[in-house]
Parts: sequence; structure tokens; C-alpha cells
Amino acid sequence: MTTPPSALAHQRAIYLAGVAGERPGVPLDPAVLEREAEKRLSAETFAYIAGGAGAGRTIAANRDDFDRWRIVPRMLNDVSEVDLSTRLLGMDLPAPLFLAPLGVMELAHPESDKAVGRAAAKHGVPLIFSNQASRPMEEVAKAMGGAPRWFQLYWSKNEELVKSFVTRAENCGCSAIVVTLDTKMLGWRVKDLDLAYLPFLRGKGIAQYTSDPVFARLIEKMPDDPDAPKPKINLNSLSTLWQMINAYPGKPLDNLKSGRARKAVKLFTEIYTNPTLNWEHIARLRGYTKLPIILKGVLHPDEAARAVEEGVDGLIVSNHGGRQVDGAVSTIAALPAIAEAVKGRIPVIFDSGVRTGADMIKALALGASAVAIGRPYAYGLALAGEEGVSEVIRGFLSDFELNLRLAGGTRPSDIDREWLVAAP
Ligand SMILES: Cc1cc2nc3c(=O)[nH]c(=O)nc-3n(C[C@H](O)[C@H](O)[C@H](O)COP(=O)(O)O)c2cc1C
Repeated sequence: MTTPPSALAHQRAIYLAGVAGERPGVPLDPAVLEREAEKRLSAETFAYIAGGAGAGRTIAANRDDFDRWRIVPRMLNDVSEVDLSTRLLGMDLPAPLFLAPLGVMELAHPESDKAVGRAAAKHGVPLIFSNQASRPMEEVAKAMGGAPRWFQLYWSKNEELVKSFVTRAENCGCSAIVVTLDTKMLGWRVKDLDLAYLPFLRGKGIAQYTSDPVFARLIEKMPDDPDAPKPKINLNSLSTLWQMINAYPGKPLDNLKSGRARKAVKLFTEIYTNPTLNWEHIARLRGYTKLPIILKGVLHPDEAARAVEEGVDGLIVSNHGGRQVDGAVSTIAALPAIAEAVKGRIPVIFDSGVRTGADMIKALALGASAVAIGRPYAYGLALAGEEGVSEVIRGFLSDFELNLRLAGGTRPSDIDREWLVAAP
């Protein structure tokens, strides 16, 4: 296990560098981090990463509802030594922190998932590989060495493809399969709709598919469809075609001539989500893998209780960062009832809206075993590649450590419900 550099050393290094006129390359204030990333990204790319469903009510609630709770620090505890390490599903982690699966990270940086993987590995923080990654899982696993990782699955309409993804994840050292439940179809994302921008249609974020043998066989079987609707020929559509043939592995000219890249996008859009997803699929998954199965996107306590009964190994309380159901309950509001239903029988990971160490403390106090962050590391990636992601992770670890100690704790397991009061 890698031990994170201590928060005090990190803090001191920042202030010392400041004496020589240097500022952190990646802002530590989460709002400034987002603003700086926005300046760096195109309007389409920023909208895709930052945006959410509908009027953005759930994105806002994910943040606002943390304010319903206040931490009550205790003073006369010895906090000179600290140990953030956490054991979860057989993994020894440096802290109760994960990197959530984020698709299409090539939008933020050309090194995309490889840069993220290397930064995660540097800190020993587990990365959950996205089903919609920009690089095949094997490549990212190689870049990470023996560092911990899980694989996140979108249940495809093609069951052979599901099995293939799961087997590949096992073979590249992923130690759990995370099934995302909340994306049986894409949410109504008005920012992306207004810009008429969906990265997958440009061949982005489909690397797990284009590197897959089952997917390749399905493409070979696809008939040419001369009657398929074609976009108008103009500079935009030509540029999209260029992006597609470059996104597909192999020589761009071959991809153009064979129509493979275009077929890959078409096939992907036909099979990538499965609106029939239900408990039977989860039971079937048991037959496909011996790895722990984690359900991501659980918000209702009844589903959490059922998951435990069905033998699921862990949950991620998530509303997809407010990207799916606009008006959905914030995750911090949903968490206490879920923790109550689970009763400590399986780990409960928490995401959506975590921006600070204090947020981490509140989630742990309300019953989470660990938290996952999404957009903040995408912004770090946009600003400074691997180093940017690493700085974001280091910021979270330091902020969490200092808040833990200042509130009177020395380990994550010290944090419990007594640490919080409802805000007046
Ligand atoms: C750009 C972007 C891409 C995402 N891609 C995926 C994905 O491929 N699979 C998935 O399960 N969740 C995906 N999510 C949701 C995240 O895993 C996570 O639930 C969410 O980002 C957490 O909220 P936060 O961004 O407020 O930290 C994505 C989120 C964003 C912002």
C-alpha cells in the first residue's frame, strides 16, 4: 500500500513554494478548479463533463444537501498520529477514496484513462474503469501495474459482449465488477442537446467495444446498409467522419474504406444499454464471474436491502452526478436510509457531489464505507494531465486528513453519526 504524503507536508510545500511566487498548478478550491477547466475546454466538452439532466436540480441538490449537516469537532483528543488506511472487500486502501468511472476522458486530455490510471496508481487509490473509457482496459491496467482497479459495466443488449467485458476485466486484474443501474438510457441532458453533441457518435468513448473480439465479430456480420440515413455533407460532418475513422483501431484509410468505424458507432448505439436490466441479470452475472459484484446507482433503501438478500457484495449510492433523473434525491439525503437498510452487511460507497474532505467526513458519518469522486479529477486531467489528476487526489487526501484530525479523529473508523448535527 502506498501511504499518502502527509497533509501537513503537502500544505507546507504549497506555502513554501508561494514564497518563491509559485501557486499550485491545479486549483484546490473546487469552484475555481471547475472554472479553470471550463476555460481550457471547448463548450461541447465542458457541457458534456459538467452538465446534468434537465434543469440541473439534482446536481445542485447533491451539493446543497451537504449543508444540511454540520460537523461537531471534539478538541481534547491526541491527534498527533493519523492513519487513513481502509480495508474494503479484501483491498487495503490508503484512504476511503475511489475514482468513479468516467467515460470519454479523451475529451479532457489525449492521454485520457492512461493518465488517470497512472495517477490513481501513484496514490494507491482504486480506479473504477469505465465501460465508456477512451482506452481499452488492458492498456490502462498495464499502465497501472499492480494498483487496485475495478471494472464498471453497462449491461449491453448483447449478452456475449457482457460476458466478454467481464472476462477481460478479470484477466486484467480488476477485483470487482460494478454494474451501473441508472443508465438504461441516457438522461435528458439539455446542455448536450442544445449543442447537439454526443461524443459516442464521433467514435469517442467506445474503446472497450472497438478492442473487443465479440464486438469485432458482430461488426463483421453487419450488412452494408446503403439506405442508412446519412448526415448532410459539410465541414462538420466531414470532421466527424475523420474523428470516427481515427478513433477506431487500425489504419484510418482502411477504416474508411471498410466502413468499420461507421459500423462500430452504429452497432454501439444499438446495443450499449439495456432497458430490460433487472434482478435476473444480476443473478446471471453471478454465473459469469466469481468477482465481487457491486451495484452502482442505488438510491432506494428497499433496493439496497434486496441487494443484500440477493448476495450482492457492495453498493455505490449514486445518482450519476445528477446526470440521469433531474429532481432525483441527492445522494447525501438518500444515504442514511440506505445505510440503515444495509446494516453494515456489505460496503456502501458514496458518490455524486463530493468536493471536499468535509464532504467525505459527512458521508462516512452517515454510513458510507468510502466515497468516490468524479468531475473533480476530470478537471484536474483537463488542466494538467496525469499530474493534474494526482494533484486533485492529493488535495482530497490532505483535506480529509486535516479535517479528520481537527475534528478529533485519527482514523476513518472514528467517524460516526455522533460527529454530525443537523444544520439549524
Ligand atoms: C463526464 C462523466 C462521465 C461519466 N461516465 C460514467 C460511466 O461511464 N459509467 C458510470 O457508471 N458513471 C459515469 N459517470 C458518473 C460517475 O461515475 C459518478 O457517479 C459521478 O461523476 C459522481 O459525481 P461527481 O461528478 O459530482 O463527483 C460519469 C460522470 C461524468 C461527469
